[in-house]
Amino acid sequence: MYDILEIRKDFPVLDDVIYLDSAATTQTPVQVVSAVNNYFYKYAGNYGRGAHRLARETTNHYEDSRENVARFMNVDPSKTIMTKNATESINMVALGINWNLGDHIVTTSLEHHTDLLPWMRLKEKGVDMTVVPPDENGIINPDEIASSITDGTRLVAVTHVSNVFGSVQDIGEITRITHKAGVMVLIDGAQSLGHIPVDVGSIGCDFFAASGHKGLLGPQGTGLLYVREPEIMEPSYFGGGMVHSVTTTGFELEPCPTKFESGTPNMPGVIGLGRGVEYVQNVGVANIEKHEKSLVKNTASRLAEIPYVEVYGPDDRCGVVSFNITGLNSHDVAMILDETSSVCVRSGYHCAMPALQSIGVEGTVRASVGLYNTQEEIDTFIDAVSQITSLVG
Ligand SMILES: Cc1ncc(COP(=O)(O)O)c(C=O)c1O
Repeated sequence: MYDILEIRKDFPVLDDVIYLDSAATTQTPVQVVSAVNNYFYKYAGNYGRGAHRLARETTNHYEDSRENVARFMNVDPSKTIMTKNATESINMVALGINWNLGDHIVTTSLEHHTDLLPWMRLKEKGVDMTVVPPDENGIINPDEIASSITDGTRLVAVTHVSNVFGSVQDIGEITRITHKAGVMVLIDGAQSLGHIPVDVGSIGCDFFAASGHKGLLGPQGTGLLYVREPEIMEPSYFGGGMVHSVTTTGFELEPCPTKFESGTPNMPGVIGLGRGVEYVQNVGVANIEKHEKSLVKNTASRLAEIPYVEVYGPDDRCGVVSFNITGLNSHDVAMILDETSSVCVRSGYHCAMPALQSIGVEGTVRASVGLYNTQEEIDTFIDAVSQITSLVG
């Protein structure tokens, strides 16, 4: 049984606010905070360096976390790179591949800027880009991806779940048709991992990037990158901790993932992330999906019944409901919701300007849920929106 009251005990901050901004970052359960505290109080050492007990214990916990994260995605831990966020993960791919003049990338106008700007910057290297538009509900047609692939295409980069519409893309089909054309696929899983079951291993994509501080309930400053064939990428940073040997004239790198994690990593963050993944597994990601989908379905349909409210996105959505109130700026709506009802939502363009341009607006109010939100909280939120609309009526 989904015991929401038990879950909420693990998130003390929820006593004070109605938190509907989990798509930006989730609240952190006490178990994760304890794992981070334990690192500092009981065994803090540096990762992968040193023979003493603290360094060894830190390394063991760090590697256990990597293993948890990788197993959760059904992929090989040795191909799972710990990063500081999804943004770093995607930039590592953009910077790490040896691009050639005339190479081509296919992406979509649904993307978070994180899955757009790194590819746009490659224009300087002569890499061209085609941007496929979504339909009015934020869905990408895989056939449009297929027909955008040219002889020069090397990569298709697509978000799994839109952070604006909550629309879920058919990444299995997109990967299948892209691979059929001999092209690599990158999936931005920042809004899907931990919210819906994602079997990265079975999907077979070449790269899967995600944040640790969203659906996986890890601390901020954590993320991951899965790479199916690590040889395709060079590291973006060079220094300590990544080499097998160094002389004054050259160096030999360690294999993946070590060669991609130079410098002292975020040990407390990664260790906390491992605990966050365990938390998600204990609740069950299928249970989380069911709970969150029912909350957003209810939210969207009730918002749509309120006069002056326009809701965007498909009926079958994951985690997120975007809407506007006629005549009101989204930031003003967000401020009023906070001041009158302690409801925290995101407003503005959500780091996805082209996605908003596709529906002809500059910003939306975005309510996004986590495994800890209740139906009562949604009721309060809906009442608060209704009251605001009386300002425009
Ligand atoms: C779809 C999507 N991709 C990427 C990102 C960037 O994630 P991070 O801030 O962890 O780098 C976000 C953040 O909201 C997102 O929603």
